[in-house]
Amino acid sequence: MLSNLLNDSKKQLASALKHKKHSFRYFTMTTIGEDGSPHSRTVVLRGFNPDQFTFTIYTDSRSNKVKELLNDPRAEFLFYDSNQLLQLVIKASLIDSKISEKNYTELPEPMKKDYSSSLGPGTPIAGPDQVEYNYDKGHFTALTFEALQMEYLKLKRPNHLRARFLAKENWQGVFLTP
Ligand SMILES: Cc1cc2nc3c(=O)[nH]c(=O)nc-3n(C[C@H](O)[C@H](O)[C@H](O)COP(=O)(O)O)c2cc1C
Repeated sequence: MLSNLLNDSKKQLASALKHKKHSFRYFTMTTIGEDGSPHSRTVVLRGFNPDQFTFTIYTDSRSNKVKELLNDPRAEFLFYDSNQLLQLVIKASLIDSKISEKNYTELPEPMKKDYSSSLGPGTPIAGPDQVEYNYDKGHFTALTFEALQMEYLKLKRPNHLRARFLAKENWQGVFLTP
């Protein structure tokens, strides 16, 4: 039963890569600021390896999240599917950050825009149409994280279902009081 919850969660995460409408395609990623405060934002799931339990996202190498992760590699991911009332909270650690010009040049043109603003993300500008792009120079980065812990919670009757799985316990899992 516990292993089914883990395997089913992985199946759904893998399926979110293929199905654009899957609720797990977008998730909340929280990192820790230099002052110790939490910072959350929405990101897109771009890669998932169920065997290694690794996740990949794409971002701009100049973004705050990259600075924060290079300072403290810990992150927390929140996935929520409102149809199933299913929440996955995953503690993870950055294991790889690849700034790859090759990957940038291979991106479809509309996607390149997300990584090629002349000014870094978060820089104040006079108005929304004042953004300049330099398509020759992308700042595309792929960040890969390894999961350390997953907490599963499904709201259902008669009993909600909550369980925790830890890498250091070989993902064996334990049910928790919801
Ligand atoms: C629907 C949606 C999807 C997003 N996907 C990404 C993404 O995949 N990667 C990314 O870096 N930012 C993404 N963002 C923007 C982030 O939420 C965030 O605003 C931005 O990356 C700056 O974050 P930071 O300053 O904390 O680094 C997305 C925002 C929305 C609303």
